[in-house]
Amino acid sequence: MANISFHNYIFGFCTSLLIITTLSHSESGLPSEEHVSLFIFGDSIFDAGNNNYINTSLRANYRPYGETYFKYPTGRFSDGRLISDFIAEYAKLPVIPPYLQPGNHNFTYGANFASAGAGALVETSQGLVIDLNSQLSYFERVCESLMKNLGDEEANILISRAVYLFSVGGNDYSYIFGTNSSILQTYSHREFVGTVLGNITSAIEQEIYKKGGRNFGFLSLDPLGCLPFSRAVVQGQNGTGCFKEITPYVKLHNKALPKLLRKLETKLKGFRYSLSDYNEFLRDRINHPSKHGFEEGKVACCGSGVYRGIFSCGGERGIKEYKLCSNASEYVFFDSAHTTERVNEEFARLFWSGTPNSTAPYNLKALFEWN
Ligand SMILES: *[C@@H]1O[C@H](CO)[C@@H](O)[C@H](O)[C@H]1NC(C)=O
Ligand SMILES: *[C@@H]1O[C@H](CO)[C@@H](O)[C@H](O)[C@H]1NC(C)=O
Ligand SMILES: *[C@@H]1O[C@H](CO)[C@@H](O)[C@H](O)[C@H]1NC(C)=O
Ligand SMILES: *[C@@H]1O[C@H](CO)[C@@H](O)[C@H](O)[C@H]1NC(C)=O
Ligand SMILES: *[C@@H]1O[C@H](CO)[C@@H](O)[C@H](O)[C@H]1NC(C)=O
Ligand SMILES: *[C@@H]1O[C@H](CO)[C@@H](O)[C@H](O)[C@H]1NC(C)=O
Ligand SMILES: *[C@@H]1O[C@H](CO)[C@@H](O)[C@H](O)[C@H]1NC(C)=O
Repeated sequence: MANISFHNYIFGFCTSLLIITTLSHSESGLPSEEHVSLFIFGDSIFDAGNNNYINTSLRANYRPYGETYFKYPTGRFSDGRLISDFIAEYAKLPVIPPYLQPGNHNFTYGANFASAGAGALVETSQGLVIDLNSQLSYFERVCESLMKNLGDEEANILISRAVYLFSVGGNDYSYIFGTNSSILQTYSHREFVGTVLGNITSAIEQEIYKKGGRNFGFLSLDPLGCLPFSRAVVQGQNGTGCFKEITPYVKLHNKALPKLLRKLETKLKGFRYSLSDYNEFLRDRINHPSKHGFEEGKVACCGSGVYRGIFSCGGERGIKEYKLCSNASEYVFFDSAHTTERVNEEFARLFWSGTPNSTAPYNLKALFEWN
């Protein structure tokens, strides 16, 4: 791997503002085959088990979650691995542990802070999740521990080369329909989406970039109104099809996110990102499952009621009865709101090495191989 040189760059870092002149990688004492670390933030799309360690009902640490790959429930909302697990694998990293998992982690390969149910706003599922601000303060602690273990110079290099993955926003929009509908009356679509994106921007700009992070990965929001869960809600109201009321939020968010990232790229020196179109990818599989080799696009593998859209997979959330398909790989959705390992793997491949029609301006492979 090539040497990295920072020529008279000024970076803000974890603990201090430093001026580094011509610090080359080989001089830094890191082995030449050094990995690029991965830090993961957001919601259940990436939560590898953090919620197992907080007092919450938003958990997947019971069977049949995890059965396909791990053979035991890890807390991941899938039958197997998540998108972020595959990304770590492609980057030749070990499995990135949940930050809250007990043990002697030194986090040199990265850390996973994601928490099922979390959004960009503190109000979203407050008290039941690790909100984004808390995830960022955990990241700060990891930075400090890296400084202590590796020394400032090596830690700063690790932080600036690392990739920061985000899946966040979906729960903010779901939450206002589920729990606090007064928001729906108080704010326009545009105002509410602006607040969500404003908080995501602060996380990037004021927290991670300031600490030296440069490489970011984002997904567009999934089609929230067309999850089995949302279809079941509509059917419960004697309607058919997707839950249309949430779609304007998803569309606005997905239109504004690339604009926001382009703006940050112009504003912040060295800021690079990969944005992959998860929405389009999933809609195509939901609507045309057989085109992609799936048997079923709309009904979940695990759950109860219409579309197996009642969130009862595993029988631990109040409702004991649930149905489970015999082969999760034939399905797009594993439970009422989360995809199967097969879908996660296919999307991770697109995120990793996709071309600009799906993943732009860079794919994750380019970000990991930047230096
Ligand atoms: C966990 O949360 C539940 C419901 O919010 C609450 O009743 C219970 O006291 C909490 N348990 C602990 C140990 O904090
Ligand atoms: C961190 O953990 C890795 C993997 O367990 C190990 O190879 C490395 O030596 C550790 N580094 C420090 C500074 O403890
Ligand atoms: C709902 O949102 C409104 C407006 O932001 C807020 O004042 C209220 O406290 C929220 N209620 C709950 C239960 O979260
Ligand atoms: C972040 O969200 C809070 C509500 O949790 C809101 O009051 C604030 O204005 C948002 N920040 C930005 C920069 O949009
Ligand atoms: C749905 O239809 C059933 C049967 O026609 C009726 O009993 C029920 O009240 C309707 N529910 C709603 C939410 O309109
Ligand atoms: C499950 O389904 C996948 C996809 O159709 C197929 O490749 C695989 O062979 C099936 N596994 C079993 C055990 O039938
Ligand atoms: C994107 O481009 C690749 C190769 O250039 C092509 O194989 C693929 O079908 C395209 N995907 C879409 C969704 O247009």
